[in-house]
Amino acid sequence: MPGALIAFEGLDGVGKTTQVEYARRWLESIRRPVEVVQEPGSTPVGEAVRQLLLAGPPVRSAEAEFLLFSAARAELVRTRIAPALAAGYVVLADRFVDSGWAYQVYGRGIDPQWAACVNAGVLNGVAPAGVIWLRGRPHRPVGGDRMEQEEASFHRRVEEGYAQMAARGGERWVAISSEAPPEVVFQAVQQALRRWLAIPEEE
Ligand SMILES: Nc1ncnc2c1ncn2[C@@H]1O[C@H](COP(=O)(O)OP(=O)(O)O)[C@@H](O)[C@H]1O
Ligand SMILES: [Mg+2]
Repeated sequence: MPGALIAFEGLDGVGKTTQVEYARRWLESIRRPVEVVQEPGSTPVGEAVRQLLLAGPPVRSAEAEFLLFSAARAELVRTRIAPALAAGYVVLADRFVDSGWAYQVYGRGIDPQWAACVNAGVLNGVAPAGVIWLRGRPHRPVGGDRMEQEEASFHRRVEEGYAQMAARGGERWVAISSEAPPEVVFQAVQQALRRWLAIPEEE
C-alpha cells in the first residue's frame, strides 16, 4: 500500500496535536504504519530552528522567517517524510507547507510567487494527499510564544488565508470546526482520513 501525507493545519491552540494523536492511535489500531512529524521540528535542524524562532534573536523580516521554516521543512521532507512515504507509511504532519502560506504569505504579506518558487524546491514533489484545517477559536489562552503574541488582526489574516486555501482546495482540503469536544472533532477527521486513505467503514 502506498504511503500518504496528511497535514493538520490551523491556528495555535485549535487542537491540531490532539487530533494528530487521535489519528495516530486509530490508524495504529487498524494496523496502518504511521509516522508523526511536527513543524518546525522532528529533525535536529528543525529542532534548532524551533529554538531559534522561539527563543533566539528576534527575526525582523518575514522573508527570513519564511526561509527558516522552509529550511526546517526541506530537512524534514528529505530525511523523514519522503523515506516514510516510500516505505508505505501514513505520515501525519502537525503543520506543513500551508502554514507557510497562511502565516507568512497571507499573514505577513511576503511575495506569493517567490514563496511558490521556494516551496517547489523545498517539497521536491512531496505534497499532502489531504489537509485537515481545524477552524475556529483556540481552546487555550494563547500568548506564550512569539507567534502567539502577534496582534489579533494578524491571526485574522492567517485564518482568512486558511479559509481561502480550503475554498480553493477541492477534495484535498476539509474544514472542520474545532469548537466541539475532541472526540466529536475526530469523527469528522476520521471520515476525511477514510476517504483519502481508502479505508472502508468496516475497519
Ligand atoms: N476539541 C477540543 N475541545 C476542548 N479542548 C481541546 C480540544 N482539542 C484540544 N483541546 C485542548 O486545547 C489545548 C490545545 O490543543 P492542542 O492539540 O495542543 O492544539 P494545537 O496543537 O493546535 O496548538 C490542549 O490543552 C488540548 O487538550
Ligand atoms: Mg500543537
